[in-house]
Amino acid sequence: MDMAEEAAIKVKGLYKLYRVGEETVRALNGVDFEIKKGEFCSIVGASGSGKSTLLNMLAGLEKPTKGEIVIAGEHIEKKRENQLVRFRREHIGFIFQSFNLMSTMNAIENVALPLNFQGMSRTLRRKKAEKALKLVGLQKYMKHRPTQMSGGQQQRVGVARALVMQPEIIFADEPTGNLDSKTSREVMELMQKIVRKRNQTLVMVTHDNYLAGFADRIIHIRDGKIVKVEENHNPQGILANGGEASKEDTPIQNELKDNGSIGANE
Ligand SMILES: Nc1ncnc2c1ncn2[C@@H]1O[C@H](COP(=O)(O)OP(=O)(O)OP(=O)(O)O)[C@@H](O)[C@H]1O
Ligand SMILES: [Mg+2]
Repeated sequence: MDMAEEAAIKVKGLYKLYRVGEETVRALNGVDFEIKKGEFCSIVGASGSGKSTLLNMLAGLEKPTKGEIVIAGEHIEKKRENQLVRFRREHIGFIFQSFNLMSTMNAIENVALPLNFQGMSRTLRRKKAEKALKLVGLQKYMKHRPTQMSGGQQQRVGVARALVMQPEIIFADEPTGNLDSKTSREVMELMQKIVRKRNQTLVMVTHDNYLAGFADRIIHIRDGKIVKVEENHNPQGILANGGEASKEDTPIQNELKDNGSIGANE
């Protein structure tokens, strides 16, 4: 009973096989793990090791060949597409490796998009979107469309869009893949603090060991298998500034201090 309450995600005997011509690719080759509620977990591994495949299956974007995925007490692998759409809407935020932004919409509209399904007024949606964009340091780019922003700025719109919903679980696939190292660190610290404050579960895929070090636990994957699970007792970021913002606060950190929550109580 206790264990069931603690686990946000349970994965058992997970396989994903792709048929490519004559060959079978074992993208996931028997994976078992649990992720606790409120835990920040990173998944690391070389290119092609199966990280995105795993994340896409956890988020219900792809069906496993075999195995079980239990999230919020529900079996994802048994759900039909329309059930999955609803499940994702209610429980999950996703930050993609590619930005997945709507090219005809500006930053505010992109971030506000997932809120459209929540029966919220347009004014409130915009307000929440603007707050989330400020959190990721894009106050000057609210009205810009994706083509009018750099790759890093687009990535931050993607982060803001996942944060605005305050989902229980956030899946992030290389969320800083297109950012320089300084901005990457800022975005990581930002995500780390926000999910901690809100007790959200964050599962992040990366091939970067430094960025993985921001997590509480690091799952290493190779050729579709877990090869090592590391408890990270001194995560990056928290250790670096003792949980408090340092003197050299970045705009992102300043925003976060003023605006720890994105308008949850409005
Ligand atoms: N739709 C698909 N059809 C066939 N093979 C696929 C498909 N998607 C992924 N694969 C294969 O599955 C394996 C795992 O791919 P995956 O995208 O999960 O890797 P990854 O760890 O996310 O890599 P990267 O760091 O480059 O993003 C790779 O060998 C890949 O070629
Ligand atoms: Mg990938």
